[in-house]
Amino acid sequence: MNLKEKVVINEGIGHPAQGLYKLVLSGEAAKTARPGQFLHIQVTDTSDPLLRRPLSIAGIDPERGEVTIYYRIKGKGTELLSRIPAGQVLSVLGPLGTGFSIPEKGELLLIAGGIGMFPLFSVIQSAEKYPVKIKVLWGGENKDFLDSADLNLLLQKGLDVELSTLDGSFGEKGLVTTLLEKHLAVGSTHELLREGLLQAAACGPNGMLKAVAGICLNSDVPLEVSLEERMACGVGACLGCVCTVRAENGGLKRKRVCKEGPVMNGQEVVWDADI
Ligand SMILES: Cc1cc2nc3c(=O)[nH]c(=O)nc-3n(C[C@H](O)[C@H](O)[C@H](O)COP(=O)(O)OP(=O)(O)OC[C@H]3O[C@@H](n4cnc5c(N)ncnc54)[C@H](O)[C@@H]3O)c2cc1C
Ligand code: FES
Repeated sequence: MNLKEKVVINEGIGHPAQGLYKLVLSGEAAKTARPGQFLHIQVTDTSDPLLRRPLSIAGIDPERGEVTIYYRIKGKGTELLSRIPAGQVLSVLGPLGTGFSIPEKGELLLIAGGIGMFPLFSVIQSAEKYPVKIKVLWGGENKDFLDSADLNLLLQKGLDVELSTLDGSFGEKGLVTTLLEKHLAVGSTHELLREGLLQAAACGPNGMLKAVAGICLNSDVPLEVSLEERMACGVGACLGCVCTVRAENGGLKRKRVCKEGPVMNGQEVVWDADI
Protein backbone atom coordinates (compact mmCIF):
# COMPACT_ATOMS: atom_id res chain seq x y z
CA MET A 1 0.00 0.00 0.00
CA ASN A 2 1.42 3.41 -0.96
CA LEU A 3 0.61 5.79 1.90
CA LYS A 4 1.11 9.42 2.78
CA GLU A 5 2.16 9.55 6.43
CA LYS A 6 2.57 12.80 8.36
CA VAL A 7 5.64 13.25 10.56
CA VAL A 8 4.48 13.97 14.12
CA ILE A 9 7.85 13.60 15.85
CA ASN A 10 11.32 13.11 14.35
CA GLU A 11 13.93 13.76 16.98
CA GLY A 12 17.24 12.52 18.29
CA ILE A 13 17.08 10.40 21.45
CA GLY A 14 19.74 9.72 24.07
CA HIS A 15 23.35 10.69 23.61
CA PRO A 16 23.91 12.46 20.23
CA ALA A 17 27.01 10.31 19.57
CA GLN A 18 24.74 7.25 19.27
CA GLY A 19 22.90 8.77 16.27
CA LEU A 20 19.54 7.36 17.37
CA TYR A 21 16.20 8.87 16.35
CA LYS A 22 12.54 8.38 17.14
CA LEU A 23 10.05 8.91 14.34
CA VAL A 24 6.30 9.03 14.91
CA LEU A 25 4.08 8.93 11.82
CA SER A 26 0.39 9.63 11.66
CA GLY A 27 -1.82 8.12 8.97
CA GLU A 28 -3.14 4.84 7.66
CA ALA A 29 -0.19 2.56 8.53
CA ALA A 30 -1.31 2.25 12.16
CA LYS A 31 -4.63 0.69 11.13
CA THR A 32 -3.13 -2.56 9.84
CA ALA A 33 0.45 -2.67 11.20
CA ARG A 34 1.58 -5.81 13.02
CA PRO A 35 4.70 -6.31 15.16
CA GLY A 36 7.66 -7.30 13.00
CA GLN A 37 6.43 -5.58 9.85
CA PHE A 38 8.33 -2.68 8.34
CA LEU A 39 7.73 0.52 6.40
CA HIS A 40 9.62 1.34 3.20
CA ILE A 41 10.16 5.08 3.44
CA GLN A 42 11.07 7.58 0.74
CA VAL A 43 13.45 9.98 2.44
CA THR A 44 13.48 12.80 -0.16
CA ASP A 45 11.27 14.27 -2.89
CA THR A 46 14.14 13.93 -5.38
CA SER A 47 15.54 10.79 -7.04
CA ASP A 48 18.67 10.86 -4.85
CA PRO A 49 18.69 8.52 -3.08
CA LEU A 50 16.49 6.60 -5.47
CA LEU A 51 15.67 3.74 -3.14
CA ARG A 52 13.39 3.80 -0.16
CA ARG A 53 14.76 2.79 3.25
CA PRO A 54 13.24 -0.15 5.22
CA LEU A 55 12.58 0.58 8.92
CA SER A 56 10.78 -1.66 11.41
CA ILE A 57 7.62 -0.70 13.21
CA ALA A 58 8.43 -0.35 16.92
CA GLY A 59 5.10 0.93 18.23
CA ILE A 60 1.52 0.80 16.98
CA ASP A 61 -1.30 3.03 18.24
CA PRO A 62 -4.39 2.40 16.08
CA GLU A 63 -6.55 4.75 18.18
CA ARG A 64 -4.31 7.76 17.61
CA GLY A 65 -3.49 6.49 14.11
CA GLU A 66 0.25 6.57 14.86
CA VAL A 67 3.19 4.26 14.38
CA THR A 68 6.58 4.72 16.03
CA ILE A 69 9.93 3.86 14.47
CA TYR A 70 13.40 4.03 15.99
CA TYR A 71 16.37 4.35 13.69
CA ARG A 72 20.10 4.83 13.76
CA ILE A 73 21.84 7.10 11.26
CA LYS A 74 23.89 4.81 9.07
CA GLY A 75 24.44 6.52 5.72
CA LYS A 76 22.94 9.07 3.38
CA GLY A 77 19.32 7.89 3.54
CA THR A 78 18.91 7.82 7.30
CA GLU A 79 20.87 11.08 7.60
CA LEU A 80 18.42 12.78 5.20
CA LEU A 81 15.51 11.25 7.10
CA SER A 82 16.79 12.72 10.37
CA ARG A 83 16.47 16.24 8.92
CA ILE A 84 12.78 15.94 8.03
CA PRO A 85 10.73 18.24 10.27
CA ALA A 86 7.42 17.52 11.99
CA GLY A 87 4.48 18.35 9.75
CA GLN A 88 6.06 17.06 6.54
CA VAL A 89 4.31 14.25 4.67
CA LEU A 90 6.32 11.17 3.67
CA SER A 91 5.66 8.63 0.93
CA VAL A 92 5.59 5.25 2.63
CA LEU A 93 5.06 1.72 1.32
CA GLY A 94 3.58 -0.60 3.89
CA PRO A 95 3.10 -2.01 6.35
CA LEU A 96 5.19 -4.66 4.56
CA GLY A 97 6.33 -8.20 5.28
CA THR A 98 5.37 -10.85 7.79
CA GLY A 99 5.13 -10.18 11.50
CA PHE A 100 6.11 -12.09 14.63
CA SER A 101 3.58 -14.53 16.07
CA ILE A 102 2.42 -13.40 19.50
CA PRO A 103 1.82 -16.15 22.08
CA GLU A 104 -1.25 -15.88 24.31
CA LYS A 105 0.20 -17.91 27.20
CA GLY A 106 3.48 -19.25 28.54
CA GLU A 107 6.81 -17.43 28.23
CA LEU A 108 7.96 -15.21 25.39
CA LEU A 109 11.73 -14.95 25.34
CA LEU A 110 13.02 -11.93 23.42
CA ILE A 111 16.67 -11.81 22.39
CA ALA A 112 17.99 -8.55 20.95
CA GLY A 113 21.35 -7.40 19.67
CA GLY A 114 21.88 -3.62 19.53
CA ILE A 115 19.17 -1.80 17.54
CA GLY A 116 17.56 -5.22 16.98
CA MET A 117 15.55 -4.33 20.09
CA PHE A 118 13.48 -1.81 18.15
CA PRO A 119 11.12 -4.22 16.31
CA LEU A 120 10.79 -6.21 19.54
CA PHE A 121 9.29 -3.15 21.27
CA SER A 122 6.13 -3.71 19.20
CA VAL A 123 6.16 -7.44 20.05
CA ILE A 124 6.15 -6.50 23.75
CA GLN A 125 3.31 -4.05 23.16
CA SER A 126 1.18 -6.80 21.59
CA ALA A 127 2.11 -9.59 24.01
CA GLU A 128 1.24 -7.41 27.02
CA LYS A 129 -2.44 -7.89 26.15
CA TYR A 130 -2.15 -11.56 27.13
CA PRO A 131 -1.13 -13.33 30.34
CA VAL A 132 2.31 -14.03 28.89
CA LYS A 133 5.54 -13.79 30.85
CA ILE A 134 7.92 -11.64 28.83
CA LYS A 135 11.64 -12.13 29.37
CA VAL A 136 14.04 -9.78 27.58
CA LEU A 137 17.72 -10.47 26.93
CA TRP A 138 19.38 -7.45 25.34
CA GLY A 139 23.02 -7.02 24.42
CA GLY A 140 24.56 -3.70 23.38
CA GLU A 141 27.93 -2.11 22.93
CA ASN A 142 27.91 -0.17 26.21
CA LYS A 143 25.71 1.52 28.83
CA ASP A 144 25.51 4.71 26.79
CA PHE A 145 23.95 2.80 23.89
CA LEU A 146 21.39 0.96 26.04
CA ASP A 147 20.38 4.15 27.85
CA SER A 148 20.11 6.06 24.58
CA ALA A 149 18.12 3.28 22.88
CA ASP A 150 15.24 3.68 25.37
CA LEU A 151 16.11 0.96 27.89
CA ASN A 152 13.92 2.97 30.29
CA LEU A 153 10.86 2.08 28.24
CA LEU A 154 11.36 -1.57 29.23
CA LEU A 155 12.28 -0.83 32.85
CA GLN A 156 9.24 1.42 33.34
CA LYS A 157 7.02 -1.46 32.23
CA GLY A 158 8.56 -3.55 35.02
CA LEU A 159 9.66 -6.24 32.56
CA ASP A 160 12.14 -8.96 33.43
CA VAL A 161 15.19 -7.63 31.55
CA GLU A 162 18.76 -8.97 31.52
CA LEU A 163 21.47 -6.92 29.84
CA SER A 164 24.93 -7.48 28.50
CA THR A 165 27.49 -5.01 27.16
CA LEU A 166 30.66 -5.66 25.21
CA ASP A 167 32.73 -3.44 27.52
CA GLY A 168 31.05 -4.53 30.77
CA SER A 169 29.81 -0.98 31.53
CA PHE A 170 26.33 -2.35 32.30
CA GLY A 171 24.93 -5.81 32.98
CA GLU A 172 27.00 -8.87 32.15
CA LYS A 173 30.24 -8.34 30.20
CA GLY A 174 30.11 -10.09 26.84
CA LEU A 175 27.53 -11.29 24.35
CA VAL A 176 23.79 -11.67 24.68
CA THR A 177 24.18 -15.34 23.72
CA THR A 178 25.82 -15.98 27.11
CA LEU A 179 22.68 -14.66 28.79
CA LEU A 180 20.61 -16.93 26.56
CA GLU A 181 22.64 -20.04 27.42
CA LYS A 182 22.32 -19.27 31.14
CA HIS A 183 18.57 -18.68 30.87
CA LEU A 184 17.97 -21.94 29.01
CA ALA A 185 19.96 -23.87 31.62
CA VAL A 186 17.45 -22.98 34.36
CA GLY A 187 15.16 -25.87 35.41
CA SER A 188 11.87 -23.94 35.10
CA THR A 189 12.71 -23.28 31.45
CA HIS A 190 12.88 -27.05 30.80
CA GLU A 191 9.42 -27.45 32.30
CA LEU A 192 7.99 -24.71 30.08
CA LEU A 193 9.62 -26.36 27.06
CA ARG A 194 8.17 -29.77 27.90
CA GLU A 195 4.71 -28.20 28.07
CA GLY A 196 5.23 -26.32 24.79
CA LEU A 197 4.95 -23.00 26.61
CA LEU A 198 8.21 -21.35 25.58
CA GLN A 199 8.64 -19.36 22.40
CA ALA A 200 11.55 -17.12 21.39
CA ALA A 201 11.94 -14.19 19.03
CA ALA A 202 15.21 -12.54 18.07
CA CYS A 203 16.49 -9.58 16.09
CA GLY A 204 20.03 -8.30 15.63
CA PRO A 205 23.09 -8.73 13.43
CA ASN A 206 23.24 -11.92 11.34
CA GLY A 207 26.17 -13.40 13.29
CA MET A 208 24.22 -13.05 16.52
CA LEU A 209 21.06 -14.52 14.98
CA LYS A 210 23.01 -17.50 13.68
CA ALA A 211 24.42 -18.15 17.18
CA VAL A 212 20.99 -17.69 18.79
CA ALA A 213 19.43 -20.11 16.28
CA GLY A 214 22.12 -22.72 17.08
CA ILE A 215 21.52 -22.45 20.82
CA CYS A 216 17.72 -22.59 20.43
CA LEU A 217 17.98 -25.57 18.07
CA ASN A 218 20.08 -27.47 20.65
CA SER A 219 17.42 -26.85 23.30
CA ASP A 220 14.41 -27.37 21.01
CA VAL A 221 13.21 -23.81 21.59
CA PRO A 222 10.89 -22.58 18.80
CA LEU A 223 12.46 -19.39 17.43
CA GLU A 224 11.43 -16.63 15.05
CA VAL A 225 14.09 -14.26 13.72
CA SER A 226 13.76 -10.94 11.94
CA LEU A 227 16.30 -10.78 9.13
CA GLU A 228 17.91 -7.69 7.65
CA GLU A 229 18.79 -7.72 3.99
CA ARG A 230 19.55 -4.82 1.64
CA MET A 231 16.33 -3.97 -0.13
CA ALA A 232 15.37 -2.26 -3.36
CA CYS A 233 11.66 -2.65 -4.21
CA GLY A 234 10.61 -3.93 -0.76
CA VAL A 235 7.53 -5.65 -2.23
CA GLY A 236 8.84 -8.92 -3.65
CA ALA A 237 9.41 -7.88 -7.28
CA CYS A 238 13.18 -7.44 -7.73
CA LEU A 239 14.54 -10.52 -5.88
CA GLY A 240 17.22 -8.26 -4.42
CA CYS A 241 16.72 -9.46 -0.87
CA VAL A 242 16.65 -13.26 -1.06
CA CYS A 243 17.92 -15.53 1.70
CA THR A 244 18.22 -19.32 1.74
CA VAL A 245 16.04 -21.59 3.84
CA ARG A 246 15.78 -25.36 4.23
CA ALA A 247 12.70 -26.75 2.51
CA GLU A 248 10.51 -29.47 4.05
CA ASN A 249 12.07 -32.10 1.73
CA GLY A 250 15.53 -31.23 3.10
CA GLY A 251 16.58 -29.27 -0.01
CA LEU A 252 17.32 -25.58 -0.15
CA LYS A 253 15.04 -22.84 -1.41
CA ARG A 254 15.09 -19.08 -1.60
CA LYS A 255 12.78 -16.70 0.16
CA ARG A 256 12.43 -12.95 -0.23
CA VAL A 257 13.14 -11.21 3.07
CA CYS A 258 10.82 -8.31 2.17
CA LYS A 259 7.85 -10.51 1.28
CA GLU A 260 8.14 -13.92 3.00
CA GLY A 261 10.11 -12.20 5.82
CA PRO A 262 11.58 -10.28 7.46
CA VAL A 263 10.34 -12.62 10.20
CA MET A 264 11.26 -16.25 9.50
CA ASN A 265 11.48 -19.54 11.33
CA GLY A 266 14.94 -19.38 12.90
CA GLN A 267 15.47 -23.12 12.47
CA GLU A 268 14.84 -22.96 8.73
CA VAL A 269 17.29 -20.22 7.80
CA VAL A 270 20.55 -21.45 6.25
CA TRP A 271 22.99 -18.91 7.63
CA ASP A 272 26.07 -19.56 5.48
CA ALA A 273 24.37 -20.48 2.22
CA ASP A 274 26.10 -19.66 -1.05
CA ILE A 275 23.31 -20.55 -3.46
C1 LIG B 1 13.28 -5.21 7.41
C2 LIG B 1 14.29 -4.20 7.91
C3 LIG B 1 14.00 -3.47 9.05
C4 LIG B 1 14.92 -2.53 9.53
N1 LIG B 1 14.59 -1.84 10.65
C5 LIG B 1 15.44 -0.91 11.12
C6 LIG B 1 15.09 -0.14 12.28
O1 LIG B 1 14.03 -0.31 12.88
N2 LIG B 1 15.97 0.80 12.69
C7 LIG B 1 17.16 1.01 12.05
O2 LIG B 1 17.93 1.88 12.49
N3 LIG B 1 17.51 0.30 10.96
C8 LIG B 1 16.68 -0.64 10.47
N4 LIG B 1 17.02 -1.35 9.34
C9 LIG B 1 18.29 -1.02 8.66
C10 LIG B 1 18.07 0.22 7.79
O3 LIG B 1 17.18 -0.11 6.74
C11 LIG B 1 19.40 0.69 7.19
O4 LIG B 1 20.25 1.10 8.23
C12 LIG B 1 19.18 1.86 6.27
O5 LIG B 1 18.43 1.46 5.15
C13 LIG B 1 20.52 2.40 5.82
O6 LIG B 1 20.30 3.39 4.85
P1 LIG B 1 21.33 4.59 4.64
O7 LIG B 1 21.03 5.27 3.37
O8 LIG B 1 21.35 5.47 5.85
O9 LIG B 1 22.72 3.86 4.61
P2 LIG B 1 23.54 3.34 3.36
O10 LIG B 1 24.52 2.37 3.91
O11 LIG B 1 24.05 4.49 2.58
O12 LIG B 1 22.46 2.54 2.52
C14 LIG B 1 22.63 2.23 1.15
C15 LIG B 1 21.63 1.18 0.72
O13 LIG B 1 21.73 0.00 1.48
C16 LIG B 1 20.52 -0.33 2.10
N5 LIG B 1 20.89 -0.78 3.44
C17 LIG B 1 21.97 -0.42 4.14
N6 LIG B 1 22.05 -1.09 5.29
C18 LIG B 1 21.00 -1.89 5.32
C19 LIG B 1 20.54 -2.83 6.24
N7 LIG B 1 21.19 -3.10 7.39
N8 LIG B 1 19.41 -3.47 5.97
C20 LIG B 1 18.75 -3.21 4.81
N9 LIG B 1 19.14 -2.35 3.90
C21 LIG B 1 20.25 -1.69 4.14
C22 LIG B 1 19.73 0.94 2.12
O14 LIG B 1 18.33 0.72 2.14
C23 LIG B 1 20.19 1.54 0.84
O15 LIG B 1 19.51 0.96 -0.25
C24 LIG B 1 16.15 -2.31 8.85
C25 LIG B 1 16.43 -3.05 7.70
C26 LIG B 1 15.52 -4.00 7.24
C27 LIG B 1 15.83 -4.80 6.03
S1 FES C 1 13.58 -5.94 -2.11
FE1 FES C 1 12.80 -6.48 -4.05
S2 FES C 1 12.21 -8.55 -3.76
FE2 FES C 1 12.77 -7.91 -1.76
